[in-house]
Amino acid sequence: MKIFTSKHELSGYLETLKEKGRTIGFVPTMGALHQGHLSLIEIAARNTDHVVCSIFVNPTQFNDPKDLEKYPRPIDADIAKLEQVDCDILFLPTVQEMYSGDEKWSIDLGYLERILEGRFRPGHYQGVTQIVKKLFDVVQPNKAFFGQKDYQQVKVIMKLVELYSLPVEIVMCPILREEDGLAMSSRNIHLSPSERNEALALSESLRRTRENYSMKQIAELQIEAVNFLHSSEGVELEYFEICNAETLLPAESKEEPGLVALVAAKVGHTRLIDNIIIK
Ligand code: PAF
Repeated sequence: MKIFTSKHELSGYLETLKEKGRTIGFVPTMGALHQGHLSLIEIAARNTDHVVCSIFVNPTQFNDPKDLEKYPRPIDADIAKLEQVDCDILFLPTVQEMYSGDEKWSIDLGYLERILEGRFRPGHYQGVTQIVKKLFDVVQPNKAFFGQKDYQQVKVIMKLVELYSLPVEIVMCPILREEDGLAMSSRNIHLSPSERNEALALSESLRRTRENYSMKQIAELQIEAVNFLHSSEGVELEYFEICNAETLLPAESKEEPGLVALVAAKVGHTRLIDNIIIK
């Protein structure tokens, strides 16, 4: 695996591959890699000729400086994991390499950045789109792969691609779960053993919603999930919503073409999100 820390050197190298007609798959990450990330790389490797993974803990997408500070950065372990899968290139820039100073960024994401995650993490998707645009400009991938776990993020990035008419296909890849249902996440390492157990309420609420889907109305499913989460020990619910899978607006009826249930909650000091496509 080749490792680049400079944008210029990476784009120069990728240019030589593109000149040979090779396709580039891109998996942007913030590191602390787990099996979920590695599955994105495997999917990228099956769908493109060369896979670039980036590891960059992007400061502009954190609302809470403490969250940024405590974000795990096990870089040696990450490199070892990437060596085990079909990752050809790792891009590992510094903050100075990605941000030249006091930069301004503003993109009109409309209601998409005010709902769900946006209500609890104002400005988060401005930071995400800022860095993803920069990374796309350097890598210029044919396809970019993102996990369904950050469902709203995928929709936001599709909006970015649309607004800038970027020639990249966004591929959403399935959530990977631990055997007991917990969605894999870099944040799970912050959970104590008892919190890890309490965190199962999130995936359980989603599982029950999907299981009961054919028997109940949307409002009923939503109330039951919210009640279940409120009564779950150690879980501080932020939202549980059943939404139109395309627009992410609250689902009004079962007639909508696709439905997704999304949940966010704090367990101890750790904020977790999860979702399930129910239709
Ligand atoms: O999903 C993430 O890890 C980050 O939001 C991303 C897309 C790498 C941008 O920093």
